[in-house]
Amino acid sequence: MWRRADSLNSNELFLFLFLSVYFETYGCQMNVNDTEIAWSILQKKGYERTAQLSEADVVLLVTCSIREKAEQTIWNRLKQLTAMKNKRMKTPSPMKIGVLGCMAERLKTELLEREKLVDVLAGPDAYRDLPRLLAVAEGGQQASNVLLSLEETYADVMPVQLAPQGHSAFVSIMRGCDNMCSYCIVPFTRGRERSRPIGSILEEVRILSDQGVKEVTLLGQNVNSYRDTSEEQFCSSDPTRLSRGFQTVYKPKQGGLRFSDLLERASRVNPHMRIRFTSPHPKDFPDEVLELIAERENICKQIHLPAQSGSSQVLKAMRRGYTREAYLDLVRNIKEMIPGVSLSSDFISGFCGETEDDHQQTLSLIRQVGYNVGFLFAYSMRKKTQAFHRLQDDVPAEVKRRRLEECISVFRQEALRVNAALIGSSQLVLVEGESKRSAEELCGRTDGNMRVVFPKEEPAGGSSEAIAAGDYVRVKILSASSQSLRGRALGLSSLRGSADQEPV
Ligand code: 5AD
Ligand code: SF4
Repeated sequence: MWRRADSLNSNELFLFLFLSVYFETYGCQMNVNDTEIAWSILQKKGYERTAQLSEADVVLLVTCSIREKAEQTIWNRLKQLTAMKNKRMKTPSPMKIGVLGCMAERLKTELLEREKLVDVLAGPDAYRDLPRLLAVAEGGQQASNVLLSLEETYADVMPVQLAPQGHSAFVSIMRGCDNMCSYCIVPFTRGRERSRPIGSILEEVRILSDQGVKEVTLLGQNVNSYRDTSEEQFCSSDPTRLSRGFQTVYKPKQGGLRFSDLLERASRVNPHMRIRFTSPHPKDFPDEVLELIAERENICKQIHLPAQSGSSQVLKAMRRGYTREAYLDLVRNIKEMIPGVSLSSDFISGFCGETEDDHQQTLSLIRQVGYNVGFLFAYSMRKKTQAFHRLQDDVPAEVKRRRLEECISVFRQEALRVNAALIGSSQLVLVEGESKRSAEELCGRTDGNMRVVFPKEEPAGGSSEAIAAGDYVRVKILSASSQSLRGRALGLSSLRGSADQEPV
């Protein structure tokens, strides 16, 4: 930890004193990635990272604004941290507080002026400016940069972020969102869509592969809207092809290297490395993307397909650009082209004007599709959004809650049905490590991203090699719940030639 040297008053000098920084991350996977970007930038300037809040000179919260509840959690945390900061004010180790990400963008004035809770504010496109902002703060002033950019992708920052066992990694491929769904704050906090040049993505995937990473998840706010226009030869006049029956709220885009091009090349870097992607928009699944997923053994047969509602009327009010029928056609198309595919989704209960009938349509859509994972939320009105300006948040809180609970309950029943259908099959599992509940068991993920727990004991008649994190193992599925599977290891395996999903 750095100790205050009162004789130093040049901001720059503080950078050489190894200030230690403590990160707290809230919200989505994009924020986890942003934390690593911010850390990578600070590390190059000589900062140290600490896992102990009490040792930190700087506490940085990477924040989320998507729902009121998320913001409330962070406000509460800021108040606690401020109390801690005040206590440390007169000690030799004072502490600075910074807010990064979406809340910095959305609540700049409140955070800086009204509440006076923070020293540094940096919006999602301003992390390169963090060393300067922190230097200003060390000089005793508040500092902020919440400018949004049309270009920033942090392409050269390369945050190498690994899961604890180091066999899975996330690679950011695009940022921002142009869709302007009427309920969503993201286009206002994270700005316009922009894609990272393909060369730097493939280089990062290659580095990860050389480090022994077995699974890469391509990451973006609208990951499959990827469109690299960084080189002249990529820019044709070809219009972007969408999923059948889907529309954009913006003027159709032209040219650029598309998601199918990137997926194709990323999957060729190492055929023994799994490729996943999140979070996609249902409009950007033209057939060539689906064909590629079907054809490449190492592209996981798992698609997140956020529906948000099962009612065409609500989807229109949400400005999602598709109807219930178009969504269900896409699901049919996906299931036909990618047999055995696992589907997951996001839904919002109680959006403006949602009737009981609309809600029933959502329940019926959940039943009809059969997802294995779901993220379900009660609608939370956000300022600045179109819904805030034009619609009435007219579903009472207790009705939202009841509808949400009904959605969760139907989701669980369906997930149980989908998972139970795997009992008796053999699944290729990438081992993550020991299961949290028992040191006698291992856990890992299927191609469809379901968690599988199985005993450590050696496979009967199998090799004598112990199974370790990062291994691919064939597991016979013996039982299922709505959230995970249990099974028995059959033996070490590999990704190539693993298409067999038949019961054994
Ligand atoms: N209220 C509730 N849920 C929301 N989401 C986005 N905005 C809101 C909001 N205002 C949900 C959507 C999105 C997920 C990331 O968060 O389902 O897909
Ligand atoms: Fe929000 Fe819609 Fe963009 Fe997703 S696609 S981030 S829900 S505006």
